[in-house]
Amino acid sequence: MVQKNYRKIYRQSIESPEHFWGQAAKNVHWFREWDCVLDDSRAPFYRWFTGAETNTCYNCLDRQVENGRGEQTALIYDSAITGRQKKFTYRELLDKVAIFAGTLAGMGVAKGDRVIIYMPMVPEAAIAMLACARIGAIHSVVFGGFAARELATRIDDAKPKVIVSASCGIEPSRLVLYKPLLDEAISIASEKPHKCIILQRQEAKAQLIPGRDIDWKEAIADAQPADYVKVKATDPLYIIYTSGTTGEPKGIVRDNGGHLVALEWSMANLFNVKPGEVFWAASDIGWVVGHSYIVYGPLLHGCTSILFEGKPVGTPDAGVYWRVISEHKVVTVFTAPTAIRAIKREDPEGKLLQSYDLSHFRALFLAGERADTDTLRWAGDRLDAPVIDHWWQTESGWPMAANCLGLGQPVIKYGSVARAVPGYDIRIVDESGDEMERGQMGAIVIKLPLPPGNLPTLWNADDRFIKAYLERFPGFYHTGDAGYMDDDGYLFVMSRTDDIINVAGHRLSTGAMEEVLARHPDVAECAVTGVADSLKGQVPLGFLVLKNGVNRDTDDIAQEAVKMIRKDIGPVAAFKKAIIVDRLPKTRSGKVLRSTMQKIADNQPYKIPATIEDPAVLEEITKALLNTNPPSK
Ligand code: COA
Ligand code: AMP
Repeated sequence: MVQKNYRKIYRQSIESPEHFWGQAAKNVHWFREWDCVLDDSRAPFYRWFTGAETNTCYNCLDRQVENGRGEQTALIYDSAITGRQKKFTYRELLDKVAIFAGTLAGMGVAKGDRVIIYMPMVPEAAIAMLACARIGAIHSVVFGGFAARELATRIDDAKPKVIVSASCGIEPSRLVLYKPLLDEAISIASEKPHKCIILQRQEAKAQLIPGRDIDWKEAIADAQPADYVKVKATDPLYIIYTSGTTGEPKGIVRDNGGHLVALEWSMANLFNVKPGEVFWAASDIGWVVGHSYIVYGPLLHGCTSILFEGKPVGTPDAGVYWRVISEHKVVTVFTAPTAIRAIKREDPEGKLLQSYDLSHFRALFLAGERADTDTLRWAGDRLDAPVIDHWWQTESGWPMAANCLGLGQPVIKYGSVARAVPGYDIRIVDESGDEMERGQMGAIVIKLPLPPGNLPTLWNADDRFIKAYLERFPGFYHTGDAGYMDDDGYLFVMSRTDDIINVAGHRLSTGAMEEVLARHPDVAECAVTGVADSLKGQVPLGFLVLKNGVNRDTDDIAQEAVKMIRKDIGPVAAFKKAIIVDRLPKTRSGKVLRSTMQKIADNQPYKIPATIEDPAVLEEITKALLNTNPPSK
């Protein structure tokens, strides 16, 4: 029953982290070795592999070609939505990346400069990322489902020299024209990029602004391939913005050296894939999963990676995941529980699965939100392969708790994300930071230093980094999740302790939505909570209190609120419903009782908080909810 290797290796990683990660680092190529594995001279700003020099693109591409993988397929672009497919060998991908790196360099992009990538799931997005890494530029990929205002915030924070985008993304119901969104974002932002490189897709042609915009094809036409540059292990590879507790997203920084070491270790020991095998993270390059396990991890490990443009259902049907696994001989898939729920809903018997040969398939990994037992069981029963729920965050960049398949047979307990991954010393603590007994629910924290690959800080915001993650429990990283650990050390992640919600595996801030709703001229007060949804796990629900004297049609106001969130945050927020209430339930000190409202909306039992200002308001909320439809589609 026990993963023997796991125990030994986990202990080594916690007792001698420098030895452990120093050994793991041997699988990465360094142009110069480190002076020290773990640099604690500026603790709590820990740095890994100080003094070392490397290049992430070199490790992902050049090294693979030098080691004889030049003719192996590196990337398969499978666009279920357009029906197009394209394969790139390692040599072809390297050539394309070197040319695009030369294009960026020709536009004056140099080591340390930022490049924003706002693109759909096309190979050029991965090429742009790797090209930045090649010349030491710092990329920041922005998910296509975000609206112009969200993009503008990121432009102002990252101050990119160049933005790489495309004419359109393709959603099942519509074309998403990226260029007007990009133009709007640039007009809102105070920082202006020098150039925009636009990939013109055949489905839509974007209007280019002379002098600023340049067509991707023209941009690369005369470019010379750029060689890789040596960067410090501690230099940033990328910034990825994620929801914080306010409308201002946090710029998570990822370094080069620690990231390489952690990803390489995880490909072999956690996902248990071998060089030459096919790995598929069915996510989007706009999310951290896409960075780590569509682009960097698989290439670094010499695997073939799938870049999938489509949805789990409707492109064309709920069998598309099985088709991709079968056709491209995928051994391991990583996706969000929502994707499996969507497939299960369309094809409850799993009939579509029967037309495909999945005999080579070894494991399904799920993360991004809590996986319900039904979904885990459904997939496990049909796939004849372990279904591994595992836990991580944008901040960590790679899993923090999982069944590590490379360290022995998995021991699965439904509802649990299994045990701490080597390198992570996970504890459950109470309000005062004291460790709780096994089985008791508390805040999930990780003892510092965090292992390689985790965020060293926030972009240009060291103070915010300390405040957001390290101040609450000194000596520990505060994950923002709550849960418990059982006697076997299995972790159960139950909820967030802040106002972050997970919608279809996408992380969103209800605080940011409230900031948008509060701008509605008729709204006096508002609150947004995440309510249970059978497909997306959670969806946001808005409660609006109108200003005195407003006597417009409340349905109109609710619809305007929905439109505002779509316009300012983006369709990805899946904000479909706002209800008008007379008052919000509050404590006597004025704190809105969001979790009580959430329980009422979810039809769950709740206790009337002793500190409530006026319990009658809970009745009013219940009545208002009864008079409305559930928020999901
Ligand atoms: N660009 C522009 N718009 C996008 C987008 C993108 N890259 N991705 C999503 N959107 C839009 C969608 O079109 C949709 O808009 P709509 O309100 O006009 O319908 C909205 O954002 C919500 O999208 P989505 O979350 O994809 O929901 P959906 O209802 O269209 O599809 C699922 C439902 C279950 C198929 C979908 O949520 C899904 O594939 N989930 C899996 C998520 C996943 O793999 N996450 C990876 C994290 S590991
Ligand atoms: P993101 O930064 O978008 O990856 O979201 C991270 C958050 O998603 C975590 O802090 C958790 O709240 C949640 N999460 C991720 N994986 C899981 C999981 N396997 N089970 C429960 N919650 C998860």
